[in-house]
Amino acid sequence: MINVKAQAYVFDAYGTLFDVHAAIARHRAEAGADAERFSEIWRIKQLEYTWTLTLAGAYVDFWTLTERALDHAFARIPSVSPALRPKLLEAYLELDAFPDASETLGALKSRGLRLAILSNGSPRMLAAAVDASGLAASLDAVLSVDAVRAYKPRPEVYALVTDRFGIPAQEVAFVSSNRWDVMGAASFGFRAVWANRGGMPDEYPAARPTRVIATLAELPALGL
Ligand code: 2OP
Repeated sequence: MINVKAQAYVFDAYGTLFDVHAAIARHRAEAGADAERFSEIWRIKQLEYTWTLTLAGAYVDFWTLTERALDHAFARIPSVSPALRPKLLEAYLELDAFPDASETLGALKSRGLRLAILSNGSPRMLAAAVDASGLAASLDAVLSVDAVRAYKPRPEVYALVTDRFGIPAQEVAFVSSNRWDVMGAASFGFRAVWANRGGMPDEYPAARPTRVIATLAELPALGL
């Protein structure tokens, strides 16, 4: 078999390009001592809702799930004032990009590779985040699960990439900091790269990443 290099690099959005904990970080002083735990609950509930709804054959857009998860976090952690709700939601729409995102995307783009985001985010959320981060100039496509009304790791979500670019899965490098997303991408046939920002232990032994990196800055040198 001829070993063709990846023609497209596709990135997960939340947790990979955008820091999901940046919203609470902007209001850290007001949120108080339980800020980190609050943010963790917000994130894990947001993801749990995507998985449970998809398993049940239902779909509710990611913005609504983000709001529901936030309300759950407020109910669980009463020390965080619900007065922060509108501020946190506003901040979530314009999350900070990780410091390594812009330069890495620029370096890959300058090689003529096609770049995209594939995310659970609703089209409105993704447009806002991409605009705020200044990453738009490097991206050829911003793909949302909303097109198939099901969440990662359903295979039809990853097929949005091969459909859009008209290339086989093996020619796509898919990068995510979420190990469960890497599992879905590897199972679909992508060259799945795990950006293990948090130094987490490996999971999903049947669907291993092609490569593991600690920061996105390592990506251009991998030669995928
Ligand atoms: C995303 O799809 C999984 O939240 C992550 O952007």
